[in-house]
Amino acid sequence: MQKLDMRKKEAPGFLITFCGLDGCGKTTMMNRLIADLEKEHEIFVTKQPTNAVRNSEIFRTYMDCPNHDGFVYRSLSLLAASDRLQHVNKIIEPEMKRGKIVLCDRYFYSCLSNLRARGYEQDRWIYEAAKWVLQPDISFFFDVPVEEAVARVRRRTEEKDRYIDMDLQHKLRKEYLDICTANNGVLISTLQSEDECYKIVKNTVKEMLNNGNL
Ligand SMILES: Nc1ncnc2c1ncn2[C@@H]1O[C@H](COP(=O)(O)OP(=O)(O)O)[C@@H](O)[C@H]1O
Ligand SMILES: [Mg+2]
Repeated sequence: MQKLDMRKKEAPGFLITFCGLDGCGKTTMMNRLIADLEKEHEIFVTKQPTNAVRNSEIFRTYMDCPNHDGFVYRSLSLLAASDRLQHVNKIIEPEMKRGKIVLCDRYFYSCLSNLRARGYEQDRWIYEAAKWVLQPDISFFFDVPVEEAVARVRRRTEEKDRYIDMDLQHKLRKEYLDICTANNGVLISTLQSEDECYKIVKNTVKEMLNNGNL
């Protein structure tokens, strides 16, 4: 797995990203961190992809239906990558220039993980596009076995019957682990208790803030 050659930040703020399978615990950990950070800092919370992509027909078809024959996955990936580029440069970076700590639910890594998991491991364009994406100060990757992640998703009443491609989840998990290792991510197993996981999240962020003098 090749490391993503992302752009180094010049802004004074910070960028913390949260990736991993649906149900791995991103929202849970983000919410605890938000509650802590906003006591003392200016924060900006956001997510990728943006609603423009989430609401598109091609995205919804891939997310909600087992049959995607009418669409080419690579074109969805390019659409999502474009959305992430725009979002990083025009939404995230301006907030960092204001000195804020930006927390982003999913990031460019999710695009890479999905592209590879769908069988496009040979595509080079995504590595080229990554050069216009900001390197996060901390990239958290939460990991849990697929069966547990899916069980957690199914516990949400609105998602108890949602379409989930199990084979894809297994491939995604493997890609996330490889991407985390190649890109100096912080890997946390959310099989541990929420308190234990959050302790690691909090300490990692504390160290970043101490080093960055915010
Ligand atoms: N160590 C843990 N970290 C985070 N969530 C956990 C952990 N252990 C159990 N959970 C549960 O798993 C679920 C994760 O859901 P959520 O945070 O919405 O995941 P995501 O945003 O990644 O889809 C929650 O119901 C949470 O209570
Ligand atoms: Mg979530």
